[in-house]
Amino acid sequence: MDELQLNPLYEKVIDDLMGQQYSIVDDFFSKEEVLLLRTSLLEKYEEDMFKKSAIGKQSNEQVVDAVRGDFILWLDEHNASGGEAQFFDKLNGFKEYLNRTCFMGINEKEFHYALYPEGTFYKRHLDTFQNDSRRKLSMVCYLNDEDWKPEYGGELTIYLDENGSEKPIDIYPLQGRMVIFESQVLEHEVKPVKRARLSITGWLKTRG
Ligand code: OGA
Ligand code: MN
Repeated sequence: MDELQLNPLYEKVIDDLMGQQYSIVDDFFSKEEVLLLRTSLLEKYEEDMFKKSAIGKQSNEQVVDAVRGDFILWLDEHNASGGEAQFFDKLNGFKEYLNRTCFMGINEKEFHYALYPEGTFYKRHLDTFQNDSRRKLSMVCYLNDEDWKPEYGGELTIYLDENGSEKPIDIYPLQGRMVIFESQVLEHEVKPVKRARLSITGWLKTRG
């Protein structure tokens, strides 16, 4: 077997996940990679390729503005080019790393761009569906412009459990910041935004 090359960034993510069920990394992608994704997202949004997000599984999807107000575009890894192809390359490396070092058994993934227009939010929820526990890790990388300010809102609030009492953590959607968390355990929400809020979001999954 090949010598396992340690990746300090991925090791930190794994340590964080084991210790606290979430990890925040501000340099998962390079600035160039983030800007390519941001540009591509904005182009595709302008071209009207996004659709209103829905809740529930495909067979049973509903648009519910009182729950979530973002617009999304699912990405097709097999037809990806440019920034998106680079994105999937890096994610595949990360996935292989997790499988080799933690035996996580990740063999599927799904990712979409998301844009929350001004005034929208995503109410508190869990990223798994009833009777479907394939989603293991949730990953969100923010593609906002460089000067995102706290007064724009749009925090990702995750609810941790500390010895039976709830501890909310607010995470600002700073450009390039990646948040990774355990899909099956951590409830979270996106607070109302006062400016369009951009991200690439998805899940690493097992086959079921
Ligand atoms: C989601 C979600 C969090 C974020 O899309 O399920 O919770 O910070 N996104 O955008
Ligand atoms: Mn979510």
